[in-house]
Amino acid sequence: MNFKIPRGTQDILPGKVELWQFVEGKARDLCRRYNYKEIRTPIFEHTELFLRGVGDTTDVVQKEMYTFEDRGERSLTLRPEGTASVARSYVENKLFGNPSQPTKLYYIGPMFRYERPQSGRMRQFVQFGVEALGSADPTIDAEVIALAMEFYRELGLKNLKLVINSLGDTESRNAHRKALIDHFEPRIEEFCSDCQSRLEKNPLRILDCKKDRDHELMGTAPAILDYLNEESTIYFDKVKKLLTDMEIAFVVDPNLVRGLDYYNNTAFEIMIDGDGFGSITTLSGGGRYNGLVQEIGGPETPGIGFALSIERLLMALEVQNISLPITEKLDCYVIAMGDEAKIEAANISFKLRKAGFSCDQDYLDKKMKAQMKAADRFQATFVVIIGENELEKGTVVVKEMATGEQKEVPVIELTSYLQEKMNTRGH
Ligand code: HAM
Repeated sequence: MNFKIPRGTQDILPGKVELWQFVEGKARDLCRRYNYKEIRTPIFEHTELFLRGVGDTTDVVQKEMYTFEDRGERSLTLRPEGTASVARSYVENKLFGNPSQPTKLYYIGPMFRYERPQSGRMRQFVQFGVEALGSADPTIDAEVIALAMEFYRELGLKNLKLVINSLGDTESRNAHRKALIDHFEPRIEEFCSDCQSRLEKNPLRILDCKKDRDHELMGTAPAILDYLNEESTIYFDKVKKLLTDMEIAFVVDPNLVRGLDYYNNTAFEIMIDGDGFGSITTLSGGGRYNGLVQEIGGPETPGIGFALSIERLLMALEVQNISLPITEKLDCYVIAMGDEAKIEAANISFKLRKAGFSCDQDYLDKKMKAQMKAADRFQATFVVIIGENELEKGTVVVKEMATGEQKEVPVIELTSYLQEKMNTRGH
């Protein structure tokens, strides 16, 4: 039997995992500065949560969920995104009762969508996302967008395009909805069956259809921006002003419709321009979802957030040839010659690790030369050599790899010797 990894998933091996750790560390640090706290919700939820939260006319819910029945005959779903889970947790744990509001949260974790895998589109992918619940102030819209843009900027990505739109409040959306129905209804039989059922349920979704995207009625469909009422217009203007003041460049795209149902007012996506990307150029997306918490049984609560996948981010970094400052150096490699020395090497490694050094040694009875090679491969800063002579004297030879300098050091002084060397050389 020859086992293969499931389609649309990947192993992240040493050598690559350091990139993941680095960008995840960057995300955590950014969230610390913006005062977003981490939340960890389960990988699976009751299916109903996503039907309600994400919306049962969306592709995600209709075609892409990993849904299964557990042994207790409950319908569960591997989370396709994080927002519905965060909203559920916010309600269930009554986070709205905390004195510090809004509730600013972030998450980093795997999401699952049964999509046709291609570069940048996986069936399991990791999202970094933030959600701010409890404020309907445009400053938080700008803050969330700024956080997303800063994340990419600090990692060195270029040629980013921030696209924003307003989907309006309920009143504006209803007016737009009616206009869309009037627009599509006379010729709805020319559209796919999904769009036909979307017409009444959620005509906005038609604009996001992949099958009918070239139909002539798509280009002439009424744009939401023409249906914004005064309140929504003022709100959108404030968001734009805040972004302008922060010198975050953006373009307004009245056709930006997000793929999930919970959005209203601000919606945005960050795209990347340039060669090396196939059809997928969206790096992240988000927006405001003022009705979601109520929809899933909580108090009326405004919210806004975004999510990006680490997979697409790493692709973008690769395409732009950006190397991250990753140091994989080992502090010490302990080389032992002979059986007794090997025992001493294990003990010395143990002590060095206890003292805080990263340290490794040979476990395969390799010759001296091969052990030196291993030290090189690990980019060891120091090699600690124990031969028979040293063993008798209770010493080791320490070689500093960068300079070639060698010194015999008593074992009991080894950690303090290395500590001092590290400090003075700035290793
Ligand atoms: P979304 O647009 O469905 O929004 O996904 C956000 C990001 O997740 C995408 O821009 C992309 O980077 C990444 N992504 C989505 N699907 C895949 C995939 N199959 N493979 C790789 N990456 C993928 C949401 O998920 C919302 N929950 C975002 C949000 C948070 N809105 C408000 N708060």
